[in-house]
Amino acid sequence: MNSYIVRGGTPLRGEVTISGSKNAALGVIAAAMVLDVPSRIENIPQVADAEIQLEICESIGAIVHRESPGTVTIDPRPIRTSHIETDKVRNIRASYYLLGVMLGKFGEGSIKMPGGCDLGTRPIDQHIKGFEALGATVTIEHGMIRLSSAQKLHGEHLFLDQGSVGATINIMLAAVRIEGTTIIENAGKEPHIVDVANFLNTMGANIRGAGTDVIRITGTPVLHGDGMYSIIPDQIEAGTFMIAAVLTRGDITVRNIIPHHMEPLSVKLVEMGAHTESGDDWMRVWTDDNAELSAAHFKTMRYPGFPTDLQPQTTVLLATATGTSRMHEDVFDNRFQYVDDLKMMGARVLVADRFAIIEGPCPLTGAHIRAHDLRAGAAMVLAGLYARGETRIDDSQIVERGYEDFIKKLTALGADIREVE
Ligand code: UD1
Repeated sequence: MNSYIVRGGTPLRGEVTISGSKNAALGVIAAAMVLDVPSRIENIPQVADAEIQLEICESIGAIVHRESPGTVTIDPRPIRTSHIETDKVRNIRASYYLLGVMLGKFGEGSIKMPGGCDLGTRPIDQHIKGFEALGATVTIEHGMIRLSSAQKLHGEHLFLDQGSVGATINIMLAAVRIEGTTIIENAGKEPHIVDVANFLNTMGANIRGAGTDVIRITGTPVLHGDGMYSIIPDQIEAGTFMIAAVLTRGDITVRNIIPHHMEPLSVKLVEMGAHTESGDDWMRVWTDDNAELSAAHFKTMRYPGFPTDLQPQTTVLLATATGTSRMHEDVFDNRFQYVDDLKMMGARVLVADRFAIIEGPCPLTGAHIRAHDLRAGAAMVLAGLYARGETRIDDSQIVERGYEDFIKKLTALGADIREVE
């Protein structure tokens, strides 16, 4: 187990370059497995989850050449099985994308149930519904999901109940190799869904409408485009640094971002009293010295709504704002587990079902806490950066599942943070 030791109280100032999107990378790496040729992918973040996804691909025979930090070539031609045996799939959620890949490519596949952050119940019924609509038979036995197809798979018109990100990508990955046109209605619209679709289209797929409610995928028997792709910047990493700027009453410019992806957050930061300005691929976020922030109400939603992956970081920020704020978590049913740790630091937060009511401002003080999950762990780091005194955050390795060089980037902005074993 590793821990972060943070000493708070310093406004963070300076510039930070945002890495490639973790969630997009997980989808694009899986999508590289559906192709008939090697592909070269750039801007993959150097984080544990992306490395695990690559290792899972290697476990079934793909050749992964790590050319330089952030750039890999993936050759799916030597894949020798559609049955994924490695236990590594249980370390991340997005390992289940390989199920869609195997179904489209081989008409069958199996994988152990995926893992990922504990955010409450995380059913996969929408993935199963999609696979069955394409003609697959799905069974779950002994912790394994198995797909088979007695008859030829075919494109289908289907409607997702939830607009799930994972189900949208998984069905898309299967449908690109299946004859006919698959229409996904009420699809997820998150930027990383669009990135996976763009990658596949670059490689010869026929996907229309990614980023809207309706995605149309016409199956292609062979997929071999020009083989090079660069992953989009990480919306959540950028958002975490933007919140850090406001929380510490500092001034941070995030570079290598898509400013449009940041609007659900930036408008709310301005509403609370922060200032922003932006250019083609950057955004500056700052507050007046020792600014008093106003309370605000948030509700997490599917894109382009406010992202659930910024909910814990934002709740920490609300603890420092003046007045009563409300955070409504409308995506996951148990994503406030970190609040007990925040209360140990002096925050006044009441959680009832999917709502947190936050009374601010609270003079947070350092405490010995832990990272419950990836984004909650990042939120605890932010709390430590604001708090008076020293904060120790156990299980800090969880944060490195999704943030490249987190300590290095924060230190360059003036943070006092180090990692100990
Ligand atoms: C993805 C992201 C995660 C983010 C989440 C929501 C990746 C690797 N992970 O997770 O960081 O927090 O989107 O933006 O991209 N649901 C069902 N049935 C299903 C699938 C989902 O009921 O078959 C429900 C879930 O329980 C949850 C909601 O739909 O309440 C959203 O889940 P989903 O969009 O699928 O999130 P993930 O793909 O798991």
